[in-house]
Amino acid sequence: MTLKNKKIILGITGGIAAYKCAELVRRLKERGADVRVVMTNGAKQFITPLTMQAVSGNPIGDSLLDPSAEAAMGHIELAKWADLVLIAPATVNVIAAINAGLANDLLTTLCLATSAPIAIAPAMNQQMYRASVTQQNLASLELRDIRIWGPGSGEQACGDVGLGRMLEPMQLVELVEQHFVPPQPKFKILITAGPTREAIDPVRYISNHSSGKMGYALAKAAHKLGGQVTLISGPVSLATPDNVERIDVVSAQQMHQAALSKAPEVDIFIGCAAVADYRPATISDQKIKKNDDDMVITMIKNPDILADISTSASARRPFCVGFAAETQDVEIYARGKLQRKKLDLIAANNVAIAGQGFNSDQNALTLYWENGQLDLPLADKEQLATTLMLEILNHFHKKS
Ligand code: C5P
Repeated sequence: MTLKNKKIILGITGGIAAYKCAELVRRLKERGADVRVVMTNGAKQFITPLTMQAVSGNPIGDSLLDPSAEAAMGHIELAKWADLVLIAPATVNVIAAINAGLANDLLTTLCLATSAPIAIAPAMNQQMYRASVTQQNLASLELRDIRIWGPGSGEQACGDVGLGRMLEPMQLVELVEQHFVPPQPKFKILITAGPTREAIDPVRYISNHSSGKMGYALAKAAHKLGGQVTLISGPVSLATPDNVERIDVVSAQQMHQAALSKAPEVDIFIGCAAVADYRPATISDQKIKKNDDDMVITMIKNPDILADISTSASARRPFCVGFAAETQDVEIYARGKLQRKKLDLIAANNVAIAGQGFNSDQNALTLYWENGQLDLPLADKEQLATTLMLEILNHFHKKS
């Protein structure tokens, strides 16, 4: 069921290949698609609406001005319903009409009113196909992201031989299936986000003000830009971005373990988490009582997740990006970390400035690399994350 729950409008126009549309609809339905057929007046000369209604199991749309059809499912509703509009066969006439932006029947109106992708399967005499105006129309539709499927070549109904045959129903079904296959991710990325919590006893911990917003915004931006994203998150109150794999952790040690096991599988690693540098040397089994006037907690160093991944000798070391949240001498500290942790890039911000950085919705960053730097001015974290991700991908592609 490769097309399960996919909603397809099949637009049939007046070409002899229309007789193959009953077969096309059956094959689409077999794969789980819900098909609604829209026919032009020309199409009805070649195959009957009754046939198409019977095979699709849905009423046929054939008029823009039909009150009963509009009452059942109006043309705008139908345009919004579709996941794909496929016009097969597509005559020179409908190709020219769509290119001109006409809306003089139900099918051309749907093409203007839908936000779904449109695919057309041209079918016409080989000379009409080769005509320069037809070629111009097809080229201009392609520029508008309308997919042109076919035509095939061979013997034509008129007796000519050449390009202009509608692709066979099974070829069209395969193209529809391919259309719905999610694109292969362009890169794999691992991002740490949020604070860590270092337990003192069963009820108390040491942590920081990180909200996780920047890391989550980066995860969202990375997905939008074609990444397969894994987010290792400390405790935050943020929803998981769509299509992102999220691994929840609490302590720095847990984050370290999760990140090191995932890092060899990815192309890019961004350490955006505000990892606690130290943790209590021992965690009391019982709640600590307030007996004394003062108390001392001995802290020991946490592993540095980013440095461990970045300095790993593995051939699968990802491209490594760090963050530096500083309150003074931002460039000096950021460049120090870039070198010490052997990073490819570091994004630094001054968290002492009110309204940016930690726990805020806005941020400004400066990106440093070995021989350069770039200021990314104050913006919403979501917007900044997209700019930053584009820069990271730019540097990543230059290096690989
Ligand atoms: O050394 P500092 O904590 O300032 O470095 C910040 C960068 O290192 C951030 O990218 C942070 O996610 C990462 N880091 C880490 N593990 C630590 C400490 C910091 O991955 N234990």
